[in-house]
Amino acid sequence: MSIGWVEREFDRRASTYDQSSFHVSLAEAAARFAAPTVKDAVLDVATGTGLVLRSLQTLPAAHLTGIDVSSAMLDVARSSLPGARFLQASASRLPFGPGEFDVITCVSAMPYLDDPVEAVREWQRVLVRDGRIVISVFTPDGLTGPTLLRRAARQHGLMVDDPNESTSTVDAWREIAAKVGMRVVRTESWTLALPSATVESLLKPQYPFGVRNDLRDATSDDLALVRVSLGELIATTDTWEASVLLLELREDG
Ligand SMILES: C[S@@+](CC[C@H](N)C(=O)[O-])C[C@H]1O[C@@H](n2cnc3c(N)ncnc32)[C@H](O)[C@@H]1O
Repeated sequence: MSIGWVEREFDRRASTYDQSSFHVSLAEAAARFAAPTVKDAVLDVATGTGLVLRSLQTLPAAHLTGIDVSSAMLDVARSSLPGARFLQASASRLPFGPGEFDVITCVSAMPYLDDPVEAVREWQRVLVRDGRIVISVFTPDGLTGPTLLRRAARQHGLMVDDPNESTSTVDAWREIAAKVGMRVVRTESWTLALPSATVESLLKPQYPFGVRNDLRDATSDDLALVRVSLGELIATTDTWEASVLLLELREDG
């Protein structure tokens, strides 16, 4: 995967990212679900502007660490949560020794990670023996802009893969966890109503890596057809909703 694209994309979004009430609410929900105690050392992987750590107000800031690849997102995190530690690092190469953390969180970031198994194995390395990993993933049950875009493209024989697909179910996480000697011990479903999106905002290229996206190479005639179908789908969709799964993983046995 192109880390360069991720850095550029989130450096660009850093100054406005916190205006997304969706990401703020999801980070709060994940922090509530993780519920670390005051004694826990917490690492938030792909912390962005630090929204998850900022939701853990009752914990001493000195117990809170966040890592991310985007320096601009980290700048916002540092100024929003002084006293916490924020480092620029990759989710699958952490600059920490074994057993440094009691709880590791990773929220709204799975689609960007190349290899979830490799990432979880690395998180497990820096976790204490009875530590916990808490993640959020998007499930296909929601009705979001990208869902409508995929439907509109399919109507014209074009495929747009869902980058969340391989990590979007409890079963997928049971398999991932088993590969690293962990298991899923707790889950919670979380939904949030979303504002509707526009045709142009949905056609902006997203996730230029890994996933198949026939729209990237589509002819202008095909794109025009998709635009019309997408407009019709948007106009006839009343309820937009994100569906999120929160999961807790622990060492097996
Ligand atoms: C949608 S934001 C989520 C930020 C934060 N977790 C939240 O809940 O608001 C995704 C974040 O993942 C970061 N990211 C993506 N791939 C990464 C990787 N391989 N290692 C570390 N950070 C990564 C991006 O820079 C971005 O800040």
